[in-house]
Amino acid sequence: MKKAKWWQEIVMYQIYPRSFQDSNNDGIGDILGIISRLDYLKKLGIGGIWLSPVYQSPNDDNGYDISNYEEILSEFGTMAQMELLISEAKKRDIQIIMDLVVNHTSDEHPWFIEARKSVDNPYRDYYIWRKAKSEQEAPNALASAFGGSAWEFDTTSEQYYLHLFSKKQPDLNWENEQLRHAIYQMMNFWIAKGIAGFRMDVIDLIGKIPDQMITSNGPQLHHYLKEMNKATFGDKDLLTVGETWGATPEIAKAYSSPDNHELSMVFQFEHISLDEIPGQSKWDLAPLSIPKLKNVFNKWQVTLENDGWNSLFWNNHDLPRIVSRWGDDGKYRVESAKMLAMILHMMKGTPYIYQGEEIGMTNRVITDIAEVDDIESINFYDERLAQGFSHEEIINAINAKGRDNARTPMQWNQTENAGFTTFKPWIAINPNYKEINVEAALLDKNSIFYTYQALIRLRKMKPIVVFGKFQLIENVAEDIFAYKRTLNDECLLVVANFSKNENRFTLPKHIQKVLLHNYNRELISDSSYTLKPYESFILEL
Ligand code: NOJ
Repeated sequence: MKKAKWWQEIVMYQIYPRSFQDSNNDGIGDILGIISRLDYLKKLGIGGIWLSPVYQSPNDDNGYDISNYEEILSEFGTMAQMELLISEAKKRDIQIIMDLVVNHTSDEHPWFIEARKSVDNPYRDYYIWRKAKSEQEAPNALASAFGGSAWEFDTTSEQYYLHLFSKKQPDLNWENEQLRHAIYQMMNFWIAKGIAGFRMDVIDLIGKIPDQMITSNGPQLHHYLKEMNKATFGDKDLLTVGETWGATPEIAKAYSSPDNHELSMVFQFEHISLDEIPGQSKWDLAPLSIPKLKNVFNKWQVTLENDGWNSLFWNNHDLPRIVSRWGDDGKYRVESAKMLAMILHMMKGTPYIYQGEEIGMTNRVITDIAEVDDIESINFYDERLAQGFSHEEIINAINAKGRDNARTPMQWNQTENAGFTTFKPWIAINPNYKEINVEAALLDKNSIFYTYQALIRLRKMKPIVVFGKFQLIENVAEDIFAYKRTLNDECLLVVANFSKNENRFTLPKHIQKVLLHNYNRELISDSSYTLKPYESFILEL
């Protein structure tokens, strides 16, 4: 059997530092707070942390607008504390993966401060500038992901600069070789500190050709990644995962095939985007379809079977809580959260848990835009209101898809502010923290936490979970997602009822062992079985 890479055998855990644990009682999570929770993460069993940005930033987009890549945001701590985090995590066999945001910087980064001074400034070409037709007329119709035009008029030089996100996030010009090498140098600075890899923010945008309206998957993209690989992590054993909204399975293979010397894997979003009306925005909701979900996962599993590698995730800091989206955050919260965990972690790829997912944290509900912090939702609200949508329609969309859903603080216990802080938290805590919190989860041996822990253990114990071939089981009830994993003469069967309706399934002839089950019910070989709401199990055959 092939020897696994370390990043194929582990489960990753994403920390959004602002909302994880406050240690100095200013209402904002910080690095010492993370260190204080490493033993909890060790108990869960994870092998790596993807840390959302902790760099210096004016926080227009919560750290995804970086003004200094080699300094830590003072609200989060110091470089010495960051080094302590890396070493304390390592002591517990946990690797730290940094967020690499290099499609853009903050407009407060010294490169941009220089660049905007004049057209002949040495840093001018680090960014993307175009002559103005007029102050009123942008160079073309490229839109920002946060609403409005992607071009901002700069009064000093009377030219426009490109920003695919907020106007405080000017896009870097990857055609400039000097800029590329400055980025590689910065990456090497972090590698030398002992980090184990990078999650690369919107990396599929760096090869853009704005004049042709090409943003993702530009012609030079893979060339840049190969160059980056060679100049930085290529000869080291690191985990690299690209955020690639525009990836198809074939493109993902190009990124992650070891022969291509680019990345370890990418985050693809096809399963996530299934709740959107195709061709419209993320806010325009389509009904959920289990058959479509099965098809999408099957396609990705099969295409990357022998070459390339999948990442597996339901949640991150940009997405709603999965139990509120594809599960049931009311009556069947516990059952459906366990079901979602089992179906995801048993597929082939590296699973990622987003903080709080392991205790089944849910979306929060807002009624007023004043409760929202996120720039994306605020811009969306203003834009849609101007277009004539009603307040209710817009708030409903934000409740379903808004990014603050995932950003409410981690719920540690049932004391005031959920053990996150003793000060006023930077964003309101989900009021359900008295019921849903880590302390309660650890005390309950049937909690969602222990399902995640058991899944991580299974992966460590059984190479079939890492290497087994995936095979979708066809001809089952529409709401049932079932698949097999096989390796030599071993076989696992994973079955999940994605619905609150009961559904029938014929159990296999020879069940050797029930490895995990979210209901306490007997499974008898070769019988017709009725699955309860969100029931799921993993069998060894
Ligand atoms: C993707 C990040 O995950 C998101 O939070 C951010 O707003 C954009 N990229 C821009 O950096």
